[in-house]
Amino acid sequence: MKSTRLLPLLLAVPLALFAEDKKPKPVDVSKLPLPLPRKVDFTQEVYPLLKESCFSCHGAQKQKGKYRCDTKEGAFKETDYGPTIVAGHSEQSALIHMVAGLVDEMLMPPPSDKPGQSEKLTGEQIGLLRAWIDQGAVWPDGPIAEVVKPVTFATDIQPVFAAACGSCHSGASAKGGFDVGSLEGVLKGGKNYGQAVAPGDLKKSPLITIVAGLDEDLPLPEKHKLPPKSLELVKKWVQQGAK
Ligand code: HEC
Ligand code: HEC
Repeated sequence: MKSTRLLPLLLAVPLALFAEDKKPKPVDVSKLPLPLPRKVDFTQEVYPLLKESCFSCHGAQKQKGKYRCDTKEGAFKETDYGPTIVAGHSEQSALIHMVAGLVDEMLMPPPSDKPGQSEKLTGEQIGLLRAWIDQGAVWPDGPIAEVVKPVTFATDIQPVFAAACGSCHSGASAKGGFDVGSLEGVLKGGKNYGQAVAPGDLKKSPLITIVAGLDEDLPLPEKHKLPPKSLELVKKWVQQGAK
């Protein structure tokens, strides 16, 4: 009789220890970047950021750590580190602790040795997520309309080309007669290749092969290779019609 009454007690001790172990460690929220001091928009700003930075591992295809944040139900899940998103309280949200690197071994996206892949979120991006959560973490029901951010020569492409190509491809002495100083110059191309960009068609745009570092006929291939993020941007620009 006595021993059966002891049994639940014996079981309770290790369980209590286990629960203690699972408690999220306190994090130093004073290190968090501040929330952006403005109203932010979920569909236009927050969802595209999650898509770009998280869906490759937490989307429809893969759910690393059994987490997905491409759906409302998935995104608000409870984790071993506390609730991911606490509406109104970004400082209590595990998702924020993780993207800011405040949880041991749980920096999200995780660091990668491949350059240009899964880059750490900037203070501004963390501030955007914080502002969204502080403003109520509103996530509309149903599918989220895709927002295609327009990529334009003036705001996105010219700065990339000016920095990477301008030293050799500017003005009258531009190598091969290819001038990156204006949209017209880039579309027109140089004296050997001719038209460098076919708007809307990556395959017919020699510029893409060149900046991917895959054109073996060009001198200085390393000077012609753009980093992955910039290459993506140039591709998007061509796909969107090279405006
Ligand atoms: C390259 C893949 C990768 C990317 C990109 C990535 N994660 Fe993760 N994430 C993981 C892996 C792997 C785990 C599981 C880690 C573990 O449990 O040790 C994880 C775990 C998590 C968890 C904890 C889930 C749980 O229940 O324990 C959260 C929350 C999370 N990620 C959020 C994010 C957010 C938000 C982003 C984008 C800002 C992101 N992750 C980007 C790979 C990734
Ligand atoms: C260090 C100098 C240098 C840099 C930097 C450089 N190029 Fe070049 N580029 C050359 C030379 C040299 C040629 C060959 C010119 C010739 O054939 O007369 C060339 C040729 C080209 C051509 C072919 C032009 C034609 O003849 O039709 C294109 C297009 C081009 N480069 C694009 C770029 C782009 C885009 C970048 C930046 C990502 C870049 N280049 C960076 C030196 C450079």
